[in-house]
This record gives sequence, structure tokens and C-alpha cells, in this order.
Amino acid sequence: MKERLEGLRIEALQELQHVETPQQLNDLRVKYLGKKGALTEILRGMGGLSAEERPVIGQVANDVRAAIETVIEEKQEAFQQAETNNRLLAETIDVTLPGKQLPTGSVHPLNKVAQEIEDVFIGLGYTIAEGPEVEEDYYNFEALNLPKNHPARDMQDSFYVTDDILMRTHTSPVQVRTMKAMNGETPVKVICPGKVYRRDDDDATHSFQFNQIEGLVIGKNIRMSDLKGTLLQFVQQMFGAQAQIRLRPSFFPFTEPSAEVDVTCVQCGGHGCRMCKHTGWLEILGCGMVHPRVLEMGGYDPEEVSGFAFGMGVERIALLKYGIDDIRHFYTNDLRFLSQFARM
Ligand code: PHE
Repeated sequence: MKERLEGLRIEALQELQHVETPQQLNDLRVKYLGKKGALTEILRGMGGLSAEERPVIGQVANDVRAAIETVIEEKQEAFQQAETNNRLLAETIDVTLPGKQLPTGSVHPLNKVAQEIEDVFIGLGYTIAEGPEVEEDYYNFEALNLPKNHPARDMQDSFYVTDDILMRTHTSPVQVRTMKAMNGETPVKVICPGKVYRRDDDDATHSFQFNQIEGLVIGKNIRMSDLKGTLLQFVQQMFGAQAQIRLRPSFFPFTEPSAEVDVTCVQCGGHGCRMCKHTGWLEILGCGMVHPRVLEMGGYDPEEVSGFAFGMGVERIALLKYGIDDIRHFYTNDLRFLSQFARM
């Protein structure tokens, strides 16, 4: 029996030398050490051994089993190692390959220009005031010296929710709300950005909805020269140090005197071209000294304080600044248009 066991050891170890796959290894384990394997087969004859022989043969059988098991374990480990190596090789990352390009958005040109305008005035010490887009007739017109049936209301026809509630036609109502909230205190120094609505043509330069930024300053001895200096500052920061302004007399019910402001043509620098209709100037905003009646309705004594106000369309500033030919580009979300502003 001992010889049979030793023979089994030699045969098993030899066969194990030639194993090439984990499957083959498993087959051999079953063949030699399995419940119906060769070793079990031999040990079944143990019953016929004498009491002295039994432990001796038992020892040999254990040695043989241990020897075979050791080799099987070694082989198994070698297979696992090889598999790990192969996986590592297959999963090698080439860090020099170009990465995936993720599309990134950009700030909308209108928001960008609005932010630039706001930054200029914040730099001049203004704060930002906001108000409702659905507004009361009182704030939008009445308190701005535009009583019911005033003909100047025609310039700003709007969308009415009721007889007394409308989509605001300008952000001037925010200025009224600011004055009232200040309870007669000075100084007032705010800009009011936001969407406004008008019953208007939809064409290359008009839209029923657009964005405005208006400004209001109230204090002691505020003069027209303060207004002019402020606007020159603003224009030179927006359009460059060479930009100049000129004021033309105009009319607004809420300011007196009132003016229309032009900036040196951004295209020709003032020499005259098609863009400025050969005048050298481009109109950019309206302004004036706050009307005494508006000050009064806002809770101020026009004998004590004075103020100036101005209002501009963000779209118009953006059209001029970037040489855009149609206001509708701002609203159609065409990426060919929008992506041009991504790196500016
Ligand atoms: N509110 C005026 C408009 O929308 C603009 C403006 C504001 C004019 C302040 C003068 C002073 O047309």
C-alpha cells in the first residue's frame, strides 16, 4: 500500500507539472484528492491493515496528500498572479491621450453687458435696487408726473393686467419705490436694472420686452454738471477713453430739463459713417434733472434737494458695443451667435 501511495505521489506531481489552465488544475484536484479520487480509493483499503501498519500508512497518506496539495496551491497562485498581470496590462491608461471635451456654457451677452454697466456704477458708489415687473399704474406713470390721459403715455403703451396694473414700461417705478422707502433721507444713489415691456413693433431694433438700467441720484446741490460728468465717466468706461458725449434737449415728463445723450460713433470714431448716418454720434440714453413734482411725490422737498436721473436700454448698448445688426439675435438662442461671446 505504501508503494501505491508513493506511486500516486510521483504520478500526480508529474501530471501537475504540465497543467496549463485553471480548469485542468481543478480536474487534477478532483482526480487525486476528490471524494471519489485516487487517494480515497487507496485509503479505502486501510481497513485490511494491522494495528501497527495503520498509523504508518496513515502518515504516508497524509504526506502524499500534503505534497499534492502544496503543488496545487502553488499552481493556483501562479494562475491568479498571471491573471492579475494580464488585467493590469490590458487596463493600462495612456495619460497622453487627449481628454474628453465637455461643452461649457457662457454668460449671455445681455447679462454680460448689464453686469459691465452695473460694475461701472457700483464703482461710482451706486447700489442696485430692484422692483416688480407687474406694476401699479401709480408707480409706473402717476408718481412720475404722467397723470391719466397724459399724452406722453402714448410713448410707452403697455400690456395691462387690469386698468390699474400693467407690465412696467420702464424701471423708473423702482426709483419711485426707492424714494418712498428712503423717507426723505439723502443721499439716494441707485441703479435699477430689469426687464420692461412695451406694446411695440418687433423689428431689428425694437422688442416688446427688453432690459433697462436706470439711475437716480438725489442730494443737496446735485446739478446738471454732476449728471454730465457721471455719464461721461460711464461712457468712457464702456466704450473707451476716447469716447465723448453730447446732450441734446429733449422731453420726459419726469425730468426738467431733459436731454437725449449721444456717444461718439463706435464705428468711425466721430468722422461720420453709415452706422451714425454721417453725424458722428449715436444716441444711447435719456436723462434729466428730476422734476420737482416727482421729488415731491417721492417725499422730498424740491426747495431743499435736487437730483438727476437717466435710463438706458441694455440691448441698445450691447448692439453698439459689439456691432450687432439685429436685436432679435439676443432672444433666439442661436449657439452660433451666443458662442462668439464665450471668450470675450
Ligand atoms: N424712463 C425713461 C424711458 O424709459 C428713461 C429715462 C429715465 C429718461 C430717467 C430720463 C430720465 O424712456
